[in-house]
Amino acid sequence: MKIDGGRFVITGGASLIGSHVADRLLAEGAAKVVLLDNFSLGTPETVRHLDGDDRVSLVRGDILRINELYDAFADAAGVFSIAGFLTLPLSQNPPLGLAVNVEGQVNVFEACRYAGVKKVVFSSSIAVYGEPGDTVIDEDAPANLACYQPGSMLYSCTKLVGEALCKLYSARHGIDAVALRYSTVYGERQHYRGVNALYIIQNYDRIRRGERPTLPGDGSEVHDYIHVADVARANVMAMASEVTAESFNVVSGVETTVKRIAEILLELTGSDLQPEYVDEAGAVKATSSPSLKLSREKIGRMLGWEPEVSVEEGIRRLTTWIEAQSK
Ligand SMILES: NC(=O)c1ccc[n+]([C@@H]2O[C@H](COP(=O)([O-])OP(=O)(O)OC[C@H]3O[C@@H](n4cnc5c(N)ncnc54)[C@H](O)[C@@H]3O)[C@@H](O)[C@H]2O)c1
Repeated sequence: MKIDGGRFVITGGASLIGSHVADRLLAEGAAKVVLLDNFSLGTPETVRHLDGDDRVSLVRGDILRINELYDAFADAAGVFSIAGFLTLPLSQNPPLGLAVNVEGQVNVFEACRYAGVKKVVFSSSIAVYGEPGDTVIDEDAPANLACYQPGSMLYSCTKLVGEALCKLYSARHGIDAVALRYSTVYGERQHYRGVNALYIIQNYDRIRRGERPTLPGDGSEVHDYIHVADVARANVMAMASEVTAESFNVVSGVETTVKRIAEILLELTGSDLQPEYVDEAGAVKATSSPSLKLSREKIGRMLGWEPEVSVEEGIRRLTTWIEAQSK
């Protein structure tokens, strides 16, 4: 599908990821970008920088109300299905989170079918794999959910449902659909809803207040951090491709300890504070593994995507953005 001159809808248009997908689409010449959001989690502030761009419409709409999708989807060539509840908000409000992630996703596909949308790019998650073992995780790896915390397990199941819908609507209704399994996404316009991105943003806040960064356990827990600009580029590449009914890891492939995150923040701020190791009883966690070997071979081979922003550079961009906000 051609991006240049195309018309697209982003559900969850006021999200961290949606706002960057919008930027990328506009940079690649999209003629029309509809940002649909009910602002239950995101705010119009996230896309304030697009005010006045006549290619962009910000529409208040709820994916749980299918009638609010028909108009927005009319004439759209592609939909980026990004609206959803992350593990943290889903754990706080399971009835709504499950409804949005499951029923809302069904509505998105039904509205696409009605409107004749050609392609959907769905925001999935590496949570579909559950607790990682010590082996390389490619897209065929089975879900290991038995040891997952209940909130993470529910979130994971909703993303598996979304991925199954991609395959079903592709096979049955000819809507091309691709699922992108992100690791921990972070970057400019960062929020406080992503469990593992909190290690960056909360510790940065602490350091700015002159408090020691806090880390769980001995700081050896690892995550895969992927910058939001790389995620946005993967979304647009997936939309542009002819690929359907496939899932792709959108990951850096780099294991970063939470201790390293604190080091980067301390280096950037020139602080000599020392991390404090504390375990928060009952904290919602995605995983606390000392190993996370995610493969990005498939997306490199089939879509030609590779990450471009290192975690050091990405955190520098994020902190620069935070500083600019507080001026
Ligand atoms: N951020 C991450 O680390 C990460 C990792 C893996 C997957 N994902 C997935 O990517 C997507 C976006 O993540 P994000 O971090 O940008 O999320 P976010 O919390 O910033 O945005 C979610 C958006 O969805 C909107 N929304 C919620 N319910 C809605 C409804 N009923 N109708 C319309 N809009 C609704 C919210 O207002 C919000 O703007 C989510 O589906 C998430 O599960 C995110």
